[in-house]
Amino acid sequence: NRTTTELELVNVSASWDEGIGELFEKIKQENKANGQPNCDASLFFTNLYITPVLKNISLYLEKGKMLAVAGSTGSGKSSLLMMILGELVPSEGKIRHSGRISFSPQTPWIMPGTIRDAILFGLTYDEYRYTSVIKACQLEEDFALLPEKDKTLLVEGGVTLSGGQRARLGLARAVYKDADLYLLDAPFTHLDIVTEKEIFEKCVCKLMASKTRIVVTSKLEHLKRADKILLLHNGDCYFYGTFSELQAQRPDFSSLLLG
Ligand code: GTP
Repeated sequence: NRTTTELELVNVSASWDEGIGELFEKIKQENKANGQPNCDASLFFTNLYITPVLKNISLYLEKGKMLAVAGSTGSGKSSLLMMILGELVPSEGKIRHSGRISFSPQTPWIMPGTIRDAILFGLTYDEYRYTSVIKACQLEEDFALLPEKDKTLLVEGGVTLSGGQRARLGLARAVYKDADLYLLDAPFTHLDIVTEKEIFEKCVCKLMASKTRIVVTSKLEHLKRADKILLLHNGDCYFYGTFSELQAQRPDFSSLLLG
């Protein structure tokens, strides 16, 4: 049913090939300056750089469902999110989604201001919404330890956040924003196993239960809970489907989740 589909990718491929033209030009100029003949570097660079980062990916996600994107490092998980965001333009295929996206990057950037400002990110303060988000992201305990709670200043003269605090703040910001589609890029980096488990349950599964979500994660427990799984390998779709289909079709899949 198309009306309940929030996101659809049809045979999409893409490459990060920006800057190639400039690189060729630079080499040409250098060769000229050194009095060397210009070699045909294009074949070499085509192989090196214009290898697609995503190849022939198809998926669809219904409203309110969770897609887990897994795969080893460099397999194209972040690139897939960038493509949905419109930052990476597909060379082939079609992408369709219906609206507002909230994105939580792997490393959220923090501007100077209070912790609360960093979470609201320009949106108005709604106490109920804000409290549920910071509880679900386990930030309440952290705020309680600070002299000025969530009014504490970040960066200059204020506190420096730990990697885990920064990750949870980035997640809280993305979740606070009202959107049709949430893209969470490895939101559990820097978190210990217990905290990760709690936040996955309370925030990603419970608080966001009615939200359409894409979560980059390679944790087995998370894959089990997701409605759909996309397992990438070197930019290829190694598997797309449910967890039980994954076990049946790719019994060796866990080797791709390491790293
Ligand atoms: P991890 O985050 O390490 O788990 O990897 P990933 O699966 O998210 O892979 P990612 O999409 O980050 O990278 C796939 C390939 O795309 C790698 O070769 C990256 O170097 C390249 N890449 C990722 N982002 C960019 C970008 O913004 N610009 C360019 N030019 N290349 C990128």
